[in-house]
Amino acid sequence: MLLRFLLTCCACVYAATASKHDAYRSYSVHTIQVRHADDLQLIQDLQFDLDLDIWQYGMAGQRDAEVMVSPEKAREFLSALDENGLTHSILIADVAKSLEDHENDIAAHRSSRKNRMIFNDYPRYAEVDSYMERMAATYPNLVTIVNAGPSFEGRAIKYLKISTTNFTDASKPIYFMDAMMHAREWVTTPVALYSIHRLLENRRPEDQDLLDDIDWIILPIVNPDGYEFSHTDNRLWRKTRSVNLNVSTECIGVDANRNFDIEFNTTGVSTNPCSNLFPGPYAFSEVETQYVRDILLEYLPRIQLYNDIHSHGNYVLFCYANKTLPPNAAHIHHIGAAMGAIMDSIKLPQARFYLVGNSGLVLYPTSGSADDYAQVVGVPFSYTMELPGYGYEFMVPPSYMDHMVKETWEGIAVSARLARIHYRRRFN
Ligand SMILES: *[C@@H]1O[C@H](CO)[C@@H](O)[C@H](O)[C@H]1NC(C)=O
Ligand SMILES: *[C@@H]1O[C@H](CO)[C@@H](O)[C@H](O)[C@H]1NC(C)=O
Ligand SMILES: *[C@@H]1O[C@H](CO)[C@@H](O)[C@H](O)[C@H]1NC(C)=O
Ligand SMILES: *[C@@H]1O[C@H](CO)[C@@H](O)[C@H](O)[C@H]1NC(C)=O
Ligand SMILES: [Zn+2]
Repeated sequence: MLLRFLLTCCACVYAATASKHDAYRSYSVHTIQVRHADDLQLIQDLQFDLDLDIWQYGMAGQRDAEVMVSPEKAREFLSALDENGLTHSILIADVAKSLEDHENDIAAHRSSRKNRMIFNDYPRYAEVDSYMERMAATYPNLVTIVNAGPSFEGRAIKYLKISTTNFTDASKPIYFMDAMMHAREWVTTPVALYSIHRLLENRRPEDQDLLDDIDWIILPIVNPDGYEFSHTDNRLWRKTRSVNLNVSTECIGVDANRNFDIEFNTTGVSTNPCSNLFPGPYAFSEVETQYVRDILLEYLPRIQLYNDIHSHGNYVLFCYANKTLPPNAAHIHHIGAAMGAIMDSIKLPQARFYLVGNSGLVLYPTSGSADDYAQVVGVPFSYTMELPGYGYEFMVPPSYMDHMVKETWEGIAVSARLARIHYRRRFN
């Protein structure tokens, strides 16, 4: 990790002459067939020693694992796989090259489209901010824009409240959606923006109920510092950008989705501050996670569904990450399955089918996650969505975004309607 940090720094210094993706030169990503739980355990056990970056946790017999490794550790990693009889193949031979291709895809997409919509692209923080301000100014009777406060580096973290009754009608449930907690998961923010678009600018007659009967809180960028850094410096950055010299003089940032106050720092985390899975020095050490917590607590009795949008892998995940289920698991599964089913029915052939289930069982046990926190404090339906990667994983070409946002909106709409039915039952 020290080496990785040095490489990253070199990339900053020489950015003018070299590619900004050079830090990932000759890094490779490997697809590994997972036969049973022991195979998953082996990958987990190797991850910290070999600085592996697990892009996708496999599922025995269902999903291959995808793991990025540095050129220095690749031989050792592949030998360990071979010794244990695991079948593997190369998904990406040179991650830097793949990142350059991704940048070219984005540039070509931009130059080919005159009137690009904000959610068919990967808008920067400032563009998202001005879109949200514009929505608030254009629809003053429906929209309240709220500045939750500054990020670690001082960017305003804003969300929209969308309601026909300015959040005063307690008989309506609240749907709280957030995106971009993990910086490199670029497809997530466009999905939040498209949801705003469908509720305001492009509302269809058949969707009027979604606006009339539900209040919406939409937070498109939870982690703006990490997101901007992923544009300017390191495309595969995941964490926040907080500096805490008591913790480390060498590495910065915290995995926001391990930083919530629920079983904090127990499983699925690394004590190494340089790791992508560092949960932070204490729960809610990050202002960004504090804002999500504060929204959950402020609107708690009425938030019926929390949807924390991530990528990639085509999963709808629910609590708890320690493999146990909340008491209303059948209802939670019902809504999650309805989301997965509608999205599957219109999916692109390149996409996997959605897997729906308990996060600890379907993926891997973790702690400190946002969805667990929301469920434990009292949100009846709390989910993490992992959007499609289409084989490009974090580097989805923007040409896919038109389909991605529409497909995901269908899932969101279904979950909102079902959550509303349960909310009415709860109160009648
Ligand atoms: C809703 O009410 C709050 C508090 O009175 C006010 O500040 C806000 O502007 C109102 N928003 C809308 C959309 O009417
Ligand atoms: C670092 O430690 C010092 C001394 O214990 C404390 O006063 C300070 O608040 C800590 N800083 C952070 C960012 O936690
Ligand atoms: C996290 O847990 C590990 C192992 O129990 C411990 O060594 C470490 O100090 C803990 N970190 C924090 C920030 O509490
Ligand atoms: C799993 O986590 C939930 C929520 O924190 C908790 O209520 C439950 O007791 C935990 N189960 C086990 C087996 O630790
Ligand atoms: Zn994520």
